[in-house]
Amino acid sequence: RTVYVNGDYLPETEAKVSIFDRGFLMADGVYEVTSVLEGKLIDFDGHAKRLARSLNELEMTCPIPEEELLAMHRELVARNGIDQGMIYLQVTRGNPGDRSFVFPDASLPGTIVAFTQNIPNLADAPAAKTGFRVITIPDLRWSRVDIKTVQLLYPSMGKMAAKKAGVDDSWFTDEAGRVTEGTSNNAYIVKGNRIITRALGNDILHGITRAAVLRFAAEAQYEIEERPFTPEEAQGADEAFSTAASIFVMPVVEVDGKPVGTGKPGPVAVRLREIYLDEMR
Ligand code: PDD
Repeated sequence: RTVYVNGDYLPETEAKVSIFDRGFLMADGVYEVTSVLEGKLIDFDGHAKRLARSLNELEMTCPIPEEELLAMHRELVARNGIDQGMIYLQVTRGNPGDRSFVFPDASLPGTIVAFTQNIPNLADAPAAKTGFRVITIPDLRWSRVDIKTVQLLYPSMGKMAAKKAGVDDSWFTDEAGRVTEGTSNNAYIVKGNRIITRALGNDILHGITRAAVLRFAAEAQYEIEERPFTPEEAQGADEAFSTAASIFVMPVVEVDGKPVGTGKPGPVAVRLREIYLDEMR
């Protein structure tokens, strides 16, 4: 695989980042994941805008001009011959030469790396046909998850909790017991013609897929209600689903051991997945 590090395209075995990089020592960095279908980047503009926002919130600057990000992504897709898959992009605050809690001077260049993941069946993932089963666990992440930082230990623990429970994902719940989002996706329920999902705030990531799916849903005459819901409400809903660049629209068929609706992917989730894939590629 050819990867990108600070302006260079290198074989992955030759790519190096310092052990003093603040991304490594302090998870001081942000990232984006953009999907690729038929060699085309999906919604790159949205991901680039959110990256700029995440960087700004952390007083970081992009180590390369933001106008070059698209060309770099395309170059990686071409060099690696990616038809379906994802591109991971990470910007960390860089290597101040030692460990310190103080942010280094803003003139210190950050570290920017990117790599491709080849996923030949991304668009027709078998899981989309059976749907995700999820459990709920307390949301113990920090309070600014609207910033897409690389601190993914708790989401990773959430995924492992799901795996140990024999299901596909965890949905996090806030102190009032209401769902915030999934380990790496936004969460929704469907009641009749209404799609219900938590409103944007500091407590969820502002999903790029979420924005597109809600736009398409409104165009398809669904009602959108942005408010929190509980796992119990999800269990009693007609349908549930999750969205992310990595799963597009994924039906959710079980919450904490109870089936949602028929226990099979629901028509609204299936339709929104089709619309999303049709419109975006
Ligand atoms: N995760 N919520 C969280 C916590 C996420 O990590 C993600 C994305 C989303 C969905 O955002 P988007 O629609 O922009 O992909 C919501 C990526 C895919 C990841 O970490 O792999």
